[in-house]
Amino acid sequence: MERTTTVISPADVDKQLEYCRAVAGLMAWQPGERPLALVDTYGCQQNEADSERLRGYLEQMGFGFTSDEEQARIIVINTCAIREHAEQRVFGNVGALVHLKRRHPDTLICLCGCMAQQPHVVKKIRDSYRHVDLVFGPHVLWKFPEMVHSLLTRRSRMFLTPDEPGSIAEGIPVVRQDKIRAWVSVMYGCNNFCSYCVVPYVRGRERSRSPEDILAEVRQLAEEGYQDITLLGQNVNSYGKDLDEPMDFADLLEQVNAIPGDFLIRFMTSHPKDATQKLFETMARCEKVAPVLHLPFQAGNDRILKVMNRRHTRAEYLEKIRALRALIPDITLTSDIIVGFPGETTEEFEDTLRVLEEVRFDALFTFIFSPRPGTPAAEMDDPMPREEKLQNFNRLTALQDAISEEKHAAYIGKTVRCLLDGLSDDQRYDLTARTPGNRLVRVVGDPSALGQFRDVKITGANKWSLFGELV
Ligand code: 5AD
Ligand code: SF4
Repeated sequence: MERTTTVISPADVDKQLEYCRAVAGLMAWQPGERPLALVDTYGCQQNEADSERLRGYLEQMGFGFTSDEEQARIIVINTCAIREHAEQRVFGNVGALVHLKRRHPDTLICLCGCMAQQPHVVKKIRDSYRHVDLVFGPHVLWKFPEMVHSLLTRRSRMFLTPDEPGSIAEGIPVVRQDKIRAWVSVMYGCNNFCSYCVVPYVRGRERSRSPEDILAEVRQLAEEGYQDITLLGQNVNSYGKDLDEPMDFADLLEQVNAIPGDFLIRFMTSHPKDATQKLFETMARCEKVAPVLHLPFQAGNDRILKVMNRRHTRAEYLEKIRALRALIPDITLTSDIIVGFPGETTEEFEDTLRVLEEVRFDALFTFIFSPRPGTPAAEMDDPMPREEKLQNFNRLTALQDAISEEKHAAYIGKTVRCLLDGLSDDQRYDLTARTPGNRLVRVVGDPSALGQFRDVKITGANKWSLFGELV
């Protein structure tokens, strides 16, 4: 198959590194002064991964990092467009920066990410948020140094938000936020066009990184001692369809699993229609692949699933779960659900509750439908009052809380090998840890164990987390 994906040439990425050096030269700092940058990230792990690349470029431009806006000479806000609430938070925070810009007119304010790819947002920023200097969409993130360079030399506002299918750029420097957990994008974009979702419009078409580039990145992370590696994509199960030598996500998982080292492999997000028996068998066979699957089902009613353009039925979903559990009985399962999709009646919503009772997920991410401009669902009749949607939402979370609490209680008395991944903010516990299924555990034990896989005896639980002590 002819590769349809545009790959940015190494020479073009190298040119961006030259722009980094040019930016460093343009900024006439006092000797010994290190300019600081602030990168503020909203939304999903893909955005976190993008921000790590923005930081990589900024470091090459000579910047250090701060979380204090007053100290920052450049502020980059990496935004999320998935729901209106996320957008409102960004507008609130960007609006508040107008005062900062008055105090520090030379501070560059940049807005990027999924919101920046939406025409109505660009118009609003252009007209009403005149203190924002640069707006750029996800497709041109790889040109960030060139954009900063133009801003500094031309001193006029810039808007770079081309609507394109998207490309792949390798070799962008990375500054990772964590020393234990790392994100590795395996593909970008989405072709599914679920009728409520803005992602395909802002992130472009599905395109896969080459397995060689992915394996090299994971190998390096393993050598650096990373212990929890998450393979990222909007729809990882579509991986490989656009490669010269077609391979699928299960093949990739197998190859990542073969990389030497003591690390766990996770991945997200999977679409039920593309989650195959081969994937489940590969998960069961590969010892590094964590026994956990995030498999969004969104709604339990077939009519709603159809209008959502999900291309799977409730029975097909349940059959996949059954097949997976037959291979990995103790698999941790999580899902995404939307309540209050246009036209969903309360009876139809109750089918969602039935799926919860049947599957008994370990945890859920639950959302009230939010109309996104440009998506088909935003145009659909939506007669249910918000009050009723909220009531349904509360029924859903109450049911899941009870299930989570019961499932967590079943851990008490067991000893589980966990990755100690952080210091606890709760005074009674020293550390936080994650079970292989990614459940949070608060642990009593010596903080010097941070970063290790250790046996933890589970002594307590509530609906959010487990409690335990180092064995
Ligand atoms: N309204 C509410 N939730 C949404 N999601 C995506 N689009 C919307 C929307 N318009 C949810 C879905 C998806 C998750 C990442 O966000 O459940 O799986
Ligand atoms: Fe959005 Fe559906 Fe694609 Fe997920 S699969 S990113 S919900 S369109």
